[in-house]
Amino acid sequence: MPDVSRDCSRSTPGAGWAPDAACAVTGTHLLAWRREQLAAGGESEALDWLLAMAAGLDWSTLQHLRIAPERSVSLPVSLDQLTVLWQRHLQFSEPLQYLLQRCSWRDLELVVAPGVLIPRPETELLVELAQALRADRPPTCWADLGTGSGCLAVALAGLWPTSEGLAVDCSDAALRQAARNLERCGRRSRVQLLQGSWWQPLHPWWGRLDLVVANPPYIPTAVWSSLEPVVRTHEPRLALDGGSDGLDALRLIVSGCRDALAPGGWLLLEHHHDQSRPVLDLLRGAGLEQVAAHPDLEGTLRFAVARAPVA
Ligand SMILES: C[S@@+](CC[C@H](N)C(=O)[O-])C[C@H]1O[C@@H](n2cnc3c(N)ncnc32)[C@H](O)[C@@H]1O
Repeated sequence: MPDVSRDCSRSTPGAGWAPDAACAVTGTHLLAWRREQLAAGGESEALDWLLAMAAGLDWSTLQHLRIAPERSVSLPVSLDQLTVLWQRHLQFSEPLQYLLQRCSWRDLELVVAPGVLIPRPETELLVELAQALRADRPPTCWADLGTGSGCLAVALAGLWPTSEGLAVDCSDAALRQAARNLERCGRRSRVQLLQGSWWQPLHPWWGRLDLVVANPPYIPTAVWSSLEPVVRTHEPRLALDGGSDGLDALRLIVSGCRDALAPGGWLLLEHHHDQSRPVLDLLRGAGLEQVAAHPDLEGTLRFAVARAPVA
């Protein structure tokens, strides 16, 4: 049953960043401003994301203004302030999500800040997979390894309000941000946040975890070194770099799962686009059953699921 106890949807005001002043602009003025910003560089999708998140201007409003540019629209923020944000993004490759300290993810609006990975859209599918695996009944106890912003933990706590939730990260900044996101969404009391490396802080729950999700660092170091500056310079290496073949964290997680999972418990992993075969091999090698790969929305195998033997 989805949780509707507290609205933490996209309409909730974000934290940190605050608009300077409301202003009214005509479509003609706004569209000219948009063209001018794009002429300075950057991608139209990113600029439209900024308009949507900072000024509440969605795609259909922009379309209406294109059709009737003489109409005015009231913005909660000045175009000058939007220009400053866009220039910072262009000049220093700062992710817009960090500049606004907000990120939309599934039906949630989460707080994000430098030091913690910005949740990615593909990770949303881990929640759907988890929900499908436990469609018959909620897990008694679930865990999220490498919780980061807490995106997965917030979502799972919403799906299963009466289950015991555990979220692990070794990073202080991540755990603080996860706590903030759980708090904003009214789900803080459903999830214990634990600091440490992968399974280690879960020792007291070993053998009792019915479902564990993990989106660990899985990018091979050489690939990480060639990532765009917007990611490599600004997002934490700890969250991205998975070692020479990208599998360091995945190996550790799989190697500990037989002790930690309850009999019949599920492990769900996200991995790099070319890691499906080695990850499935790791899961089979660890003695797990019902090992299967799942695609992302583009059909690329990005997820692996497996189950601990029942007896
Ligand atoms: C790819 S990010 C995923 C964050 C979040 N779950 C998401 O999907 O957006 C990986 C996370 O694993 C954490 N991490 C890295 N090494 C770890 C370790 N040894 N033990 C626990 N967490 C770790 C990082 O701090 C980071 O938050």
